[in-house]
Amino acid sequence: MCGIVGYIGERDAKKVLLDGLLRLEYRGYDSAGIALRTENGIEIKKTKGRISDLERIVGDCCTNSMCGIGHTRWATHGEPSQRNSHPHMSADGRVTLVHNGIIENYIQLKLMLESEGVVFKSETDTEVAVNLIAKYYKSDPLEAIYKAMNDIRGSFALAIMFDGSPDELYAVKKDNPLIIGIGNGNHENFIASDIPAILKWTRDYIVLGELEVAKVTRDGIYITDKHGAPVEPRREHVMWNYDAAEKGGYPHFMLKEIFEQPTVLRDTIGPRIKDDGIATFEDEGLTDEILRNTKRTYIAACGSALHSGIIGRTFIERLAGIPAEYEVASEFRYRDPILYPDDLVVIISQSGETADSLAALRLAKAKGLRTVAIVNVVGSSIARAADVALYMNVGPEIAVATTKAFSAQVAMLLILAIQTAKAKGNLTNEKLQELSRELSHLPQLIGELMPLYESTKQLAGHLAQRDHIFFIGRGLDYAACYEGSLKLKEISYIHSEAYAAGELKHGTISLIEPDTPVIAIATQKEIFEKTVSNIKEVKARGAFVVLITGKGMYDANGDSYADYVIEVPECNELLLPSLVVVACQIISYNIAAVMGCDIDKPRNLAKSVTVE
Ligand code: F6R
Repeated sequence: MCGIVGYIGERDAKKVLLDGLLRLEYRGYDSAGIALRTENGIEIKKTKGRISDLERIVGDCCTNSMCGIGHTRWATHGEPSQRNSHPHMSADGRVTLVHNGIIENYIQLKLMLESEGVVFKSETDTEVAVNLIAKYYKSDPLEAIYKAMNDIRGSFALAIMFDGSPDELYAVKKDNPLIIGIGNGNHENFIASDIPAILKWTRDYIVLGELEVAKVTRDGIYITDKHGAPVEPRREHVMWNYDAAEKGGYPHFMLKEIFEQPTVLRDTIGPRIKDDGIATFEDEGLTDEILRNTKRTYIAACGSALHSGIIGRTFIERLAGIPAEYEVASEFRYRDPILYPDDLVVIISQSGETADSLAALRLAKAKGLRTVAIVNVVGSSIARAADVALYMNVGPEIAVATTKAFSAQVAMLLILAIQTAKAKGNLTNEKLQELSRELSHLPQLIGELMPLYESTKQLAGHLAQRDHIFFIGRGLDYAACYEGSLKLKEISYIHSEAYAAGELKHGTISLIEPDTPVIAIATQKEIFEKTVSNIKEVKARGAFVVLITGKGMYDANGDSYADYVIEVPECNELLLPSLVVVACQIISYNIAAVMGCDIDKPRNLAKSVTVE
């Protein structure tokens, strides 16, 4: 939610900022802006719209500037407009900043500042923050920041410029991510919300901690805590290269990331299968002993990450024989859930920054429970806050709609279930080895689905422009329906619902009309016939049925109940939801492509949801 960049060094700051913003556009794309330090003071250029619109407005201006800050916005307070775009400058012109987050007590602070004569120009909470800092700014920027931080309630990541400190940028964060890119002796340093923004220039960075303030100059980074005491920076090095954050010839990041799955999932799974042939996280801190003592697994996450948890719940219950629950993180955090001391709380998050998931994690920790995070972004807030962080290893995911991270999450939940089963002695070593071996073939099986990209284009043409599409299935197939349905609706804007196949007739079947598309998922042998009965119920009402099933399972036997059949390769039933979801990713992509949708940046969305 909102992307922030800052640069100070010897390059053309405008170019560095615009390039960084482009890499952060997945965090929000309602408006964009930059502030550049020039010999005539600070020059601000901002506009409603995307980075490409900003580039047009910026044009040839300020080519001599070597210091500035930039922002790409996902609107919270105030509609997307030029006026509400960042950067914001204080009414007295002495402080300029960009903000990611929400100032919860902004009305109270605004009234206080107005009573002191400040005239506001925008409807944003950010303009309150900048004027509050200006109020406290006498001559020491750090003092002004500390004082303002004391007054502000809410979440913030800020990059700030002070008129009296032309050779310095400042950064501070609470509950929103911020990193400081290290220029490695090139007389330059960077500020960014996320790694892709700095990858072109450096792979070394410092993760700013909660309520830490960084003073960033060309040649130094000085970090203090909220009391002003120096903090030893935590230096990180990212293994991804710049190409990983490029489209690499694909029309969209989403398509690139779909096609990357057979390769990147090898890094998710391979290193976790040990010499005894059994998959485990033992040497990443999740020991068998912890799992032996776990009586219940409680999964909390949001969106697709939650959907992986729904699939994972079945893995854990089936293999390890212990109960597993799942819950939307935004509900978990306010419901005061009943948790037991021997519960293991598992938080799943690609970005590692989702506000509700982070809050769920903190709640579990506050209750004294052991926490495990399944995350992709190394050093992210959730990764750092959890007792154990398990990394997806799939490289940067840029498209707003997740694909490869989802597949990695499901694979990792299967590893968790295998390891828990081993720790509990619930399955024999032979069975665990067999499961691990089958899991190691998942990347290859996903690779076998890639021809669907060409073969489902015509189907996509038929499904595009429909008002509603239903997904039905039972058991693990139903769990896969959630993700299939979300993928479709978020990128194509076609209304879609995931339904337990047996539940449809309790009301929703009234929406099925002649030609209503129903994507029926039926891969699980034991319940196959039950799902077929439900498919026939919708077929009898004229539905256009797309059946996704296992190889050789569809045998119409003279009673054709599917209009289009997609077969996924034969494999262990626990791997089938992963294959089904990849098929759904491809179909959804093709539908959205036919409809000419903005696939990588669907309307109203942002990749990293750092507000609750
Ligand atoms: C949908 C999607 C979202 C995320 C959700 C959680 O395609 O990507 O539903 O899964 O916002 O994000 P993370 O995994 O970063 O916590």
